[in-house]
Amino acid sequence: MNGVVIYKTKYGSTKQYALWIGEELGFKVVEAKEITIDELEDYDTIIYGGGLYAEVINGASFITKNIDRLKDKKIAIYSTGITPLDCRDYYDKYVIEKNFKTGVPENIRIFNFTGKMILEELSMVHRAALKSLKKIMASKKEPTEMEKLLIELCDADGDFSDKNQIGELIEYIKG
Ligand SMILES: Cc1cc2nc3c(=O)[nH]c(=O)nc-3n(C[C@H](O)[C@H](O)[C@H](O)COP(=O)(O)O)c2cc1C
Repeated sequence: MNGVVIYKTKYGSTKQYALWIGEELGFKVVEAKEITIDELEDYDTIIYGGGLYAEVINGASFITKNIDRLKDKKIAIYSTGITPLDCRDYYDKYVIEKNFKTGVPENIRIFNFTGKMILEELSMVHRAALKSLKKIMASKKEPTEMEKLLIELCDADGDFSDKNQIGELIEYIKG
């Protein structure tokens, strides 16, 4: 199998998963900014990873925008985020709708992993973004379950990365 793992990261979680996946599959691991779409065409299997920022999978448009050139490839896209994995509506509805406006192409499978958010490592801009998101949500008179969850997650502080989560993706790629 001729494959590559590409990632985009701000604080390192997505890179950690990329390294675990690359090691498991024996694939080259490359930061997204170091690879061009022409180079990607040399691989038959592509794994792309990005952290979730306001439901957007960081940089995944690199794949979705170029899907016509990649339609004969086997592709897995994974997100890392702090939303618990059992919030399936969040991942299967909100995240999918935000990142795949016209639906997930047939040759792409999506995987979700939990990453890390260490509050004191965050940039000023990110801290301010979380603060204002929390303020907006908290000001709602009758917050939905999803909004209540988002308020809580703004204060999440820790590393929830876990190598065991990559199992399903590895099986999919090998299968
Ligand atoms: C400003 C900001 C927005 C975030 N938005 C989300 C989000 O919408 N959903 C989520 O699950 N996690 C969210 N997170 C948490 C990150 O996705 C998580 O920390 C991820 O593992 C970061 O990956 P990276 O360090 O590889 O970029 C957010 C974090 C920050 C700082």
